[in-house]
Amino acid sequence: MTSSDPLLQPYQLKHLTLKNRVMSTSHEPAYSEDGMPKERYRLYHAEKAKGGMALTMTAGSAIVSRDSPAAFGNLHVYDDRIVPWLAELADACHEHDCKVMIQITHLGRRTGWNKADWLPVLSASPVREPAHRAFPKTIEDWDIERIVADYASAAQRCQAAGLDGIEFESYGHLMDGFWSPATNHRDDEFGGSLDNRLRFTDMVLDAVRAAVGENFVVGIRMVADEDFEKGLSKEEGIEIARRLAGSGKVDFLNIIRGSIETDAALTKVIPVTGMRSSPHLDFAGEVRAATKFPTFHAARISDVATARHAIATGKLDMVGMTRAHIADPHIVKKVMEGREHEIRPCVGATYCLDRIYEGGEALCVHNAATGREADIPHIIVKTEGPRRKVVVIGAGAGGLEAARVAAERGHQVTILEASSQAGGQVRLATQNPRRKELIGIIDWRLAELDRLGVEIRYDTWAEKGDVLALSPDVVVVATGGLPQNPPLTAGDDLVTSSWDIMAGSVKPAENVLLYDDNGGHQGMGAAELIANSGARLELVSPERFFAPEMGGMNHVPYVRAFQEKGVTVTINTRLRSVRREGNQLVAELASDFADRWRGERRVDQVVVEHGTAPLDDLYLSLKPLSKNGGAVDYERLVHGGDIFPARNPQGGFVLFRIGDAVASRNIHAAIYDGIRFGLRI
Ligand SMILES: Cc1cc2nc3c(=O)[nH]c(=O)nc-3n(C[C@H](O)[C@H](O)[C@H](O)COP(=O)(O)O)c2cc1C
Ligand code: SF4
Repeated sequence: MTSSDPLLQPYQLKHLTLKNRVMSTSHEPAYSEDGMPKERYRLYHAEKAKGGMALTMTAGSAIVSRDSPAAFGNLHVYDDRIVPWLAELADACHEHDCKVMIQITHLGRRTGWNKADWLPVLSASPVREPAHRAFPKTIEDWDIERIVADYASAAQRCQAAGLDGIEFESYGHLMDGFWSPATNHRDDEFGGSLDNRLRFTDMVLDAVRAAVGENFVVGIRMVADEDFEKGLSKEEGIEIARRLAGSGKVDFLNIIRGSIETDAALTKVIPVTGMRSSPHLDFAGEVRAATKFPTFHAARISDVATARHAIATGKLDMVGMTRAHIADPHIVKKVMEGREHEIRPCVGATYCLDRIYEGGEALCVHNAATGREADIPHIIVKTEGPRRKVVVIGAGAGGLEAARVAAERGHQVTILEASSQAGGQVRLATQNPRRKELIGIIDWRLAELDRLGVEIRYDTWAEKGDVLALSPDVVVVATGGLPQNPPLTAGDDLVTSSWDIMAGSVKPAENVLLYDDNGGHQGMGAAELIANSGARLELVSPERFFAPEMGGMNHVPYVRAFQEKGVTVTINTRLRSVRREGNQLVAELASDFADRWRGERRVDQVVVEHGTAPLDDLYLSLKPLSKNGGAVDYERLVHGGDIFPARNPQGGFVLFRIGDAVASRNIHAAIYDGIRFGLRI
């Protein structure tokens, strides 16, 4: 039966039939090895193809020239060795009738000179990009000639690999650096009038068309409004879109609004949790109306209803659901099978993007299979071994994940949870209203556990006897931890934990010092709540900059709140002790840098964040009764095989602990533990 769902209608792009309207826009997950898209890269895209999407735009800003060194693992499309790797990737996606394109670019000033070959960074004019901090040289005539030629040969490589098309990246990079009055101060034939500012783009388009011919799909992901005072205006942006559409040289426009030259600006282009859904959809629709040309767009269109609306109302031809597919690569398949409610939601945590900017690889905060397709499946199959009785203690993110995976494998699972609600520290984090969407991590798992028939016993503080009474084959201790103080020379009993502030069990006082000796969201969440309560707050961190465990995108809303509320931030400073004087507390401060330096603050409340200490009593009491004594073979955990060594043959069950019940970590670590241990039951 053919569906009437607007999202599932095919779309004809030139000679290509895209089987539905859903795509993943270009994003560099930093899975490349040596600049090549090898197995990890291929499996990642193939999973989305399996999941039903019509078009995957691979790479993020694959680089066409050597003097555009990779800023975050970008593919080397300037290198002939990429062709067979791209071909394999394309074949793997084509098997599922998913079309494959690639985004190519010269990063211009959006990279660093001290990377790869240490070549100077360049731009239309020598305007520094704040985010990457390189001072670019002014591009010269010989640079223009070689870079135009580089674009053409890169496009040829993509064509030779059997890709279905390419798109140019033209926001925040070299190409649009010529367009924008903020970055083009030239008075030659490449500056001034719009014709001049488009000259470099025209040269690239002509060279690429000459190289790949008329029949290869060539598009452009372009800024059509930089949305800041000195930047490219909406009027000029739409005019550029019109001219490109009318040029006969491009086949689609992929619309961006905003600037990416600072982290703060970037969050407007790629909004994070707590920010508006689909903020630029209407604008992309305006461009489509003005150009009457194939229009693609992505920016926090995370749910199917909004995506459907974007197509049904004619705002877009293809809707990008990029992070949504990092969270769940099988969205389209689930829609087609009437299982929309089973889609794992993207909660906007932007752990994925923040990790690449911090030098890591993109990982989803709550889908540990993404990017690990070689080892961790997205679809859990039933075990061929015996059906086991599994008891999970703790219904935080890790415990729920272990339970979900074990239940998918066909085991009989019971969860014991001490409190009246599931969620643990994730629920605590959502007490910051700005981050309330994170509850999707818990709600999705609860819905899945319901579907799988898993019993959760709330208000059940599990002791050894309670667990043994269930005669388990496997016991998973996911009890999490409790807040611990940083090492203080005195005053342990005078401080309040950030946890108490988040939970609302202690109200912020009028004049507060918050000492964050963890560096992640935990302390920042409490600081945001305290600042929003109207209190006077000083945030003290021993680090070189505050919250170093959190990436640049997540940093933005905290800093905004802190600046708006007048929070004082003090770095490079440790809390040494706290004492009471009258009805106030005196916080004594010290420094790692100047041994004898001391400072003092008189406040009403000292809040501390120093991670959690594992709640491990139950684990320790069960250890001697277990077959494996709680031990795990890490070598086999990573490379395969039975991970639970037989240390005590008289033991009655296999025992392991996960998440913060082992040591203070984060949501992804707990969920990764949950799935990788769950798969071994
Ligand atoms: C890990 C990651 C890397 C990205 N890298 C690029 C990139 O190299 N080029 C690009 O045009 N967009 C990049 N993006 C932006 C996405 O293409 C997309 O515009 C953005 O995620 C907003 O869409 P979404 O809300 O559907 O995720 C990246 C996004 C993520 C999450
Ligand atoms: S980390 Fe957050 S934003 Fe990124 S895909 Fe996962 S849920 Fe979405």
